[in-house]
Amino acid sequence: MPKTQIIVAPDLSILVEKAAARIAARVSQSDTPVAVCLTGGSTPKPVYDRLAREPYNSSLPWDKIHWFWGDDRFVPIEDERSNAGMAIKALLRETPVPPDNIHPIPTEGNSLGDASRIYQEELKSFYGQNQLDPMDPLFDIVLMGLGADGHTASLFPGTSTLTETDRWVLGVEEAGLEPFVPRITLTFPVMASTKEMLFLVSGQGKQEILSRVLAGENFPATSAYAEGDLIWLVDRKAAPQEFPEGVTTLGSKE
Ligand code: 6PG
Repeated sequence: MPKTQIIVAPDLSILVEKAAARIAARVSQSDTPVAVCLTGGSTPKPVYDRLAREPYNSSLPWDKIHWFWGDDRFVPIEDERSNAGMAIKALLRETPVPPDNIHPIPTEGNSLGDASRIYQEELKSFYGQNQLDPMDPLFDIVLMGLGADGHTASLFPGTSTLTETDRWVLGVEEAGLEPFVPRITLTFPVMASTKEMLFLVSGQGKQEILSRVLAGENFPATSAYAEGDLIWLVDRKAAPQEFPEGVTTLGSKE
């Protein structure tokens, strides 16, 4: 049965260990190709660094893992603001990943609209269907972050992207937060098509917004859901005061 949990790690280094272990467990569970959806921001970078090292570097089934992104900034992959570029540098070029298994959002040579449509087709082609089946999730694990304004992926407060249920991928002309560049984002139903959604939240600066999101206040991240497990992996500094260290189960979804 899918579950929603908050896991409070004592500090960032333990959050990183736990995140890497969860990702490794998810991608090692299947004999068929698996799909990981990565996120940008500063919190996942040490997790990507960790996965590039042992024991993961020589033990993960790299041939069968496909890497996608939940959002990206509309800049070339070499640009330091590129989410794909960050993950490639930290993780993918340090490991024996077949190049065909890397599926960055195409941020060069296309308009924002065309790039969104191309990525939507790429996701559908990998999935093998045009409609998402809740019993057959697209992703094995989707990583998410939480912005100070409550955004997640590139789904910003007050935008029409939040209620999109038809398109899988959208262009975002104006990001609500730095860096102020156009972006491309997957929509909520597509990111929800996962066996596990793993939010990574770290630092004192996230404590207030995390408390408000977990209390159900109206922010983009509050609307995130998963067909499978929804896990909030947070460090002590980001955790709301009333959550003790360890695991808190918020409730279950049939
Ligand atoms: C991006 C992200 C974004 C990020 C949050 C949290 O492209 O910036 O995908 O949604 O996850 O802003 O970022 P931090 O981990 O840096 O706090």
